[in-house]
Order: sequence, then structure tokens, then C-alpha cells
Amino acid sequence: MNFEFNETQLMIRETARKFAEEKLAPSADDRDEKEQFPFDAIKEMGDLGFMGMMVSEKYGGAALDTISYILAMEEISKVDASAGVVMSVNNSLVCWGIETYGSEQQKEKYLRDLATGKKLGAFALSEPEAGSDATNQRTTAVRNGDHYLLNGIKNFITNGANADVVLVMASTDRSKGAKGVSTFIVEKGLPGFSVAKKEKKLGIRSSDTVSLAFQDVRIPVENRVGEEGFGIKFALKTLDGGRIGIAAQALGIAQGSLDAAIKYSKERKAFEHPIAEFQAIQFKLADMATNVEAARMLVLNAASLKDRKEAYNVAAAMAKLYASKVAVKCALEAIQIHGGYGYIREYKVERFLRDAKITEIYEGTSEIQRVVIARSLLQ
Ligand code: CAA
Repeated sequence: MNFEFNETQLMIRETARKFAEEKLAPSADDRDEKEQFPFDAIKEMGDLGFMGMMVSEKYGGAALDTISYILAMEEISKVDASAGVVMSVNNSLVCWGIETYGSEQQKEKYLRDLATGKKLGAFALSEPEAGSDATNQRTTAVRNGDHYLLNGIKNFITNGANADVVLVMASTDRSKGAKGVSTFIVEKGLPGFSVAKKEKKLGIRSSDTVSLAFQDVRIPVENRVGEEGFGIKFALKTLDGGRIGIAAQALGIAQGSLDAAIKYSKERKAFEHPIAEFQAIQFKLADMATNVEAARMLVLNAASLKDRKEAYNVAAAMAKLYASKVAVKCALEAIQIHGGYGYIREYKVERFLRDAKITEIYEGTSEIQRVVIARSLLQ
């Protein structure tokens, strides 16, 4: 493995770092407190090419590789994991899904605006009874001539309240189970389509997470992505890439926690010495740095396999499993190093912990990642 970054990748990382420090950092805590969506930042991220990083130029994207994407994801999430997940869902789940499996007409109609940040996308797979058990879809899409009638509820949908375009998985033939699920591009504002509930969350509070309700929503047949019955494969294949994005988000939170812990331990004095001089603190920092580096290698490995067009689903699961664990661990240690100050809102490490936890849950829980990894070992 050679992870020497090329000039473009280094430039992307630098641009993302500068943007995160200048545009996201000053308002991240406030937006978290007020649960405010980062509208302006997302627009600017679109202008920078960060909302459609891997989309080809033909559809308005930045035509970059997955390595560039994860470098940018890490930098954004190091400062603001909420902006990170908005970016990740739009890039890896929505843009990638449409570009890889959509029709030419769908790409022309939707991808350009999604890739340039003019429009925002969401990915609606989860339901009240279909989380880890993703194939258990209750939402139905019944064909009626040149359209489908969509009915059901989707749960925990990132970007759901602000998305212009939602990729919805729905059963087109219940008798076929997982093989009877299809994917549809659903536009905001269609009659019968509504946001049912906005969730109040522990972390990533400035991103929106909602339930979506569909009541006899008419979806034109041309908005079906791929053949009928392709929906579960579409969703799981798309999530393989999504998991690399979330792993990079977790890596960013872990690195942000480590950076904050180093800074604080050099400034804070106890017993007349900066606490960084004590081995108890040094050993924590050393363990955090080692874990962050190991997570980074797994994330880079998964991204690099994807770029080389080799199988990456197991590598993505390993990267997400490990990086999310490291994010939680590093955020906890950063709080411990900050002592009482780590537990209060003024120091952002408590936000890092709240933001880190979700990376062990969404886009497949850690238990699901272990299922994916174990299956590959035992097949
Ligand atoms: N790529 C393509 N196809 C795949 C696949 C993959 N990675 N994994 C499985 N499949 C196929 C299988 O081959 C099978 O098809 P065939 O019957 O034709 O062989 C079909 O999909 C069903 O697979 P399984 O029989 O293995 O299904 P299962 O019920 O045993 O579950 C699972 C597999 C790994 C547990 C899967 O359901 C899973 O990953 N669950 C977690 C779902 C998830 O990540 N949800 C996150 C929600 S989205 C989100 O969080 C977004 C957000 O807003 C942030």
C-alpha cells in the first residue's frame, strides 16, 4: 500500500481544512446548541465541489477519487461532524447511487444539481421495523400504468427535512421479499409526501434526522432506479461506499479529539506543571494517536480499494467498525484529559463524544459491520 498523496489530494485536504477552520469552526457549537442546519456552509461546500466530489465532470461533479473524498470528509468532520454527515450522505449515498445505477435521464435531471450543491439528497432505507433488518421493507410502491403509488413511513432519514431529492427503497412485490424491493427517486413537494417527525438527538444536532411519510405519492415509472427488484442490492452496494464516508467522519472526530487533548494538556497546569508533562496524560495521548493512525490506515485502505475498483465491502465494514470505536474512545479520553472542563459545553470535546456515538450506529451498526466481516471469513 502506498498512501503518498498526490498534489490534487493534498490540495483538497488543505482546502477542506481551511474551509472547516474559517467557515465551520466559528459557528459549529452554536448550531449544535440551536439544532440549526448549516445551510450557508453546505452551499459553500457545493461551490467548492465538496457535495459531488466523485461525480464525473459531465454531471457537474469534481471527478475526484475516493481518497480525496475521505481526506475532505476527515477535515470537515474534525471540526463539525454534522456538516460531515450532510456531505457524506449526499456524496456517497445519493450522488454515487444515481451516477452508478441511474438512467441517463435521471442523471441529467437530478445529478447535476445534487453534485453542485444546488440541491440536497437523502437516502431512505430505514423504517420503524427495518433498521439492521433492512430487507424487511414495509413501504410499498404499487405500479399503476405509467406511475407507482408510494405508501409508507421511513425512519431516521439524515437530510430528510431539507432534501430536494430522496432515494426511497420500497417493496414493489411483497411476495418476493428482499428480491421484491425497488428504488425510486422522489422529489420534495409531491402531494402526499411529508416530513412526519423531526428527531431530537444526542449528537450531530445541526444535521436533520426525520421520519418521512408517503401517502399515495405518485412516482413516475422513469424515476425507478434500475429494474424492479434491484432495490436491496442497490441499497447495500451504495451503503458499502457510504460506510467509507462515515468511517472518515469518525476518523475526523477522533483526530479532532486528539488535537483538542494535546492543546489542552499543554495549556493546563496542575501541581505547577503543564499536565502534558505527566506520564498519565502522555500515555493517553500516545494510545489515542496510535488508534487514530490505525483507523486512518483502514479508511485509506477501503478508499484505495474502491478507487482501484477492487472489492471493498469488507474493508469498508472494517474501517467503519474500527474508526467509529476509536472516535468514541478518543472523545472519552479527551474529556478525561480536560477533567471537569471536558464535561461542559464551552470545550467542544463533549460535542465530539455526542457526535462520535452515532458513527457506531448509522449506515450499519457495529454489530452489522461484524456480520459483514464474519460472513466474508466463513463463506
Ligand atoms: N452489495 C450488494 N448486494 C448485497 C450486499 C452488498 N454489500 N450484501 C448483501 N447483498 C445482497 C445479497 O446477495 C442478497 O441477494 P441474493 O439473495 O440475490 O443473493 C440480498 O442482498 C440480501 O442479502 P442477505 O440475504 O445477506 O440479507 P440479510 O437480511 O441477511 O442482511 C445485512 C444483510 C448485511 C444484515 C444487511 O441487511 C445490512 O447491511 N443491514 C444494515 C442496513 C444499514 O446499514 N442500514 C443503514 C440505514 S441507511 C442510513 O443510516 C443512512 C443515513 O441516513 C445516515
